[in-house]
Amino acid sequence: MEFEKVIACIGAGYVGGPTMAVIAYKCPQYKVIVVDINKERIDRWNSDNLPVYEPGLDEIVKQVREKNLFFSTDVESAIKEAQIIFVSVNTPTKEYGVGAGMAADLKYWEKSARDILKYANSDKIVVEKSTVPVKTAEAIERILSTSDKYKFEVISNPEFLAEGTAINDLLYPDRVLIGSRETPSGIKAREEIVKIYENWVPREKIITSNIWSSELAKLAANAFLAQRISSINALTPLCEITGADIEEIAYAVGTDSRIGNKFLKPSVGFGGSCFKKDILNLTYICKYYGLDEVADYWLKIVEINEYQKNRFVLRILEEMFNTLSGKKIALFGFAFKANTNDTRESAAITIAKKLVEERAILSITDPKALENAKKDLEGVEGEIYYTEDPYEAVKDADAIAVITEWDLFKNLDYEKIYSLMRKPAFIFDGRNILDHKKLFEIGFNVYPLGKPPLKHF
Ligand code: UDX
Ligand code: UDX
Repeated sequence: MEFEKVIACIGAGYVGGPTMAVIAYKCPQYKVIVVDINKERIDRWNSDNLPVYEPGLDEIVKQVREKNLFFSTDVESAIKEAQIIFVSVNTPTKEYGVGAGMAADLKYWEKSARDILKYANSDKIVVEKSTVPVKTAEAIERILSTSDKYKFEVISNPEFLAEGTAINDLLYPDRVLIGSRETPSGIKAREEIVKIYENWVPREKIITSNIWSSELAKLAANAFLAQRISSINALTPLCEITGADIEEIAYAVGTDSRIGNKFLKPSVGFGGSCFKKDILNLTYICKYYGLDEVADYWLKIVEINEYQKNRFVLRILEEMFNTLSGKKIALFGFAFKANTNDTRESAAITIAKKLVEERAILSITDPKALENAKKDLEGVEGEIYYTEDPYEAVKDADAIAVITEWDLFKNLDYEKIYSLMRKPAFIFDGRNILDHKKLFEIGFNVYPLGKPPLKHF
């Protein structure tokens, strides 16, 4: 079959993989090639054991793989064949030199741009899919414009999908944002990208803008979302002290239609590859331009998040008689949120490390994320066990700490769990997903977030 267009994507991660799978699924007239330098990842994309767990992803990939969706490590051929190249390589926080710990490290992005320059055999549209600092397109354009043969247009098309709901977010997005230079050729290239999404997204949901707005809007959206979580989390200690109930507050506040009820769930702290990285990146840009007050404002969101993780551990320590040495704590969940195997920046990592420092014995249970958990805790010296079976995890445990809001944890037999644990038995519910009153009646000492504890002594 002759394809109408060939689209390539460099980077087959949590963003590139699912996004391209949906484009291929919705646009059978296009050929979509996803490339990555990591051969193991590509092998898994070509197997029945995909490297990314997302509800609905397996089914879509199975339907289109080898028809119009291809995974490969051959970056050169993909660049040559495609008219449109999405780049969704990672843009982690820089770990060295100027801006270390804050700025985005664009080395992979720059390498991708140089690969495009090196292998291109015709004009191309290059699409920023990764979240990048505002003004990145300028740097990319400068690299690409050194070509004396071909013309490249750089477009910003940030991805707003959330993990765990990626497929649904891609199929039914709130909006698609496409930014370009406002030159005739920029607008023409932008329209090419609009055309792709028009295959399944209503036109009024496709927003076009200037390229800097598009780059900055993505950072701003993530900062706003994270800010809501830090705002609600910042109220949890006050609730625990005063007897107010954070769920009642979230409900009362969220029913104001101006505020809305989403993203007001208290937690052990937000995780994921984006929020912290993007806020640090935003902070860095502000500082770079001398906007120190603005930088401090956004940075507080991350600081409150760190505080919340530390507070969770301190509470466990204090409530369990100020010593955790030799006590077994079952961590319920390691993923940064439910329905994903992703553990990047998961609060679980900090919490596990701090508990091990207190010489607690950990047994970690998670239905999807144990493979990543083991990698995250590699080299941590302490007694750590992993099991997919929560009943196994709680055997002789002194406490349970709920870290991830997996549905599975709501429906366990807590009478049985209580009988398997050492007494007094503690539950610290870092997600407020359990029935606290019932647990208390069974015999547990229960510590919800942002509510007074239910204790037997
Ligand atoms: C990442 C960032 O976290 C996110 O902010 C950004 O919007 C998109 O990139 P994600 O897809 O979740 O999102 O990252 P990751 O799963 O690490 O995938 C990136 C992929 O790019 C990896 O598979 C990596 O091997 C690949 N890569 C990296 C290349 O193919 N070439 C490179 O030069 C560097
Ligand atoms: C986020 C953005 O939602 C998405 O638009 C962007 O493209 C990437 O970053 P993601 O990190 O995948 O997506 O998940 P998200 O659902 O936003 O959750 C992030 C973290 O916040 C998780 O640890 C989650 O548990 C936590 N969270 C979320 C809360 O603690 N409370 C809430 O009310 C919502």
